Amino acid sequence: MTRISLTGQVHRHLLPHLSDDTIAIDATAGNGHDSLFLAANIGENGRLYAFDIQRQAIENSRKRLAAAGLSARVTLMQTGHEHMAAQIPEIHHGRVNIIMFNLGYLPNADKSLITTTATTIKALNAAIAMLAGSGILSILAYPGHPGGREETAAVIQWAQNLPQQTFTLCMHNPDQNPQTSPQWIEVIKLDD
Ligand SMILES: C[S@@+](CC[C@H](N)C(=O)[O-])C[C@H]1O[C@@H](n2cnc3c(N)ncnc32)[C@H](O)[C@@H]1O
Repeated sequence: MTRISLTGQVHRHLLPHLSDDTIAIDATAGNGHDSLFLAANIGENGRLYAFDIQRQAIENSRKRLAAAGLSARVTLMQTGHEHMAAQIPEIHHGRVNIIMFNLGYLPNADKSLITTTATTIKALNAAIAMLAGSGILSILAYPGHPGGREETAAVIQWAQNLPQQTFTLCMHNPDQNPQTSPQWIEVIKLDD
């Protein structure tokens, strides 16, 4: 049996929720794999906003999207995702359908440049304010690197404290140990 990676599982899960005019955010562009997935499935009328603090990540994403002929529907920004509210046009505030966070460090690069608890929580608060009714926020958190355990615990606690009348929380693979295993946390905004 072929094993599907966790990011592959996330893509497979999100795919039916993407359509021709989806507005999406990739909060951690990295090497552009999630951005490519989103850009390829939001259609010509969709828009993707992708953030990363590292020039190398933005460049890698830019190249990947250009090679697929998808650059025109993507705005890449070399800035922290905690600034998303100021960066995304107001017309899309409250209208974003899908938001992905893939926390941690850029693979094959400086492992000290990681997402951090304070900015991640700030960005998550900005992200839920961006969501449309039925919008989905997907977060992959990794407790295995230095700082990752605290960040993963903080993200889970943040998600568990969201108001239940507005958001549904889904912990995928709930049997896995949050101290050691990657965690996939999904927050769905209920319909307006
Ligand atoms: C695991 S990688 C993302 C993988 C990526 N989604 C992909 O498909 O290749 C995490 C990324 O988060 C970025 N990052 C760290 N702090 C950030 C911040 N405050 N805002 C945006 N990106 C950040 C890192 O530079 C790194 O590239």
